[in-house]
Amino acid sequence: MKKLLLAYFSATGATKTVVEALAKGFGANEISKLDFTSPDFRAQEDILVDEDTTVVFAGPVFAGRIQTDAMDQLKRIKGNGNAICICVYGNRDFDDALIELYDTAIDNGFNVVGNGAFIGEHSFTHITDFNIAKNRPDANDLTIAENFGRDIVKKIVDGNLSNIEPKGNRPYKDGMSSLLVAPDTLDTCIKCGKCITVCPVNAINTEFKCNPDLCILCGACGKVCPVNAKVCTVEPLIQKSKLLSTLEKRVPKLFI
Ligand SMILES: Cc1cc2nc3c(=O)[nH]c(=O)nc-3n(C[C@H](O)[C@H](O)[C@H](O)COP(=O)(O)O)c2cc1C
Repeated sequence: MKKLLLAYFSATGATKTVVEALAKGFGANEISKLDFTSPDFRAQEDILVDEDTTVVFAGPVFAGRIQTDAMDQLKRIKGNGNAICICVYGNRDFDDALIELYDTAIDNGFNVVGNGAFIGEHSFTHITDFNIAKNRPDANDLTIAENFGRDIVKKIVDGNLSNIEPKGNRPYKDGMSSLLVAPDTLDTCIKCGKCITVCPVNAINTEFKCNPDLCILCGACGKVCPVNAKVCTVEPLIQKSKLLSTLEKRVPKLFI
């Protein structure tokens, strides 16, 4: 019996898409999910997983680390079976995000049989005029994720269960920078409320404005807005996005 638990946070859906492709390749008899994205679904206590279940620890990269709400939740998963660590980043770099996930899984009792860094459309794409890793993960990324799932099952079946450490540095780099600014809401806003529904940190008030003290700049509001009314025009963010849009295309990196 192959059981798989997908544990992730995914504000704009890239991480979710990658882990679902991996799950397809893994071919589990039973797949369960802990989707921590919604603020209504945050575990307050530790979650214990049985040893027959392989856990996928997954989250997006924010400033070279795993996004903090994602990390807080993933740290709650404890067990003594196998784990796979996945980070998804916006085509710049994943820095110390994957090793942070790996260390968490090890600290929580798991045996890490594989790690992968995949690429997703950059969150800034949804709140600026720049396209950064547009439409990633693409078909090729998803084939790689699916094959990765297949290779990991083979490894487990062969009894090859050594811990595989990914790239990354300890101590980890410092997380969020001063770039954090909440998107503005333009007058063209039609007050449909979709942004309120998808915000993973309840940062949007009933006037459809983002609270800068809560906003994590994840771009979820911009992605669902039917009239592109959520925008960031702060110069440092525009300059950063412009630069990011010029980087060469990265490919998924696997550690297995
Ligand atoms: C505040 C912030 C910081 C980010 N930092 C990085 C980074 O350091 N490197 C990178 O390549 N992508 C970075 N990204 C892009 C996200 O990792 C990327 O958009 C990812 O696909 C989001 O995953 P999701 O769709 O599952 O939420 C950042 C995004 C945000 C909002």
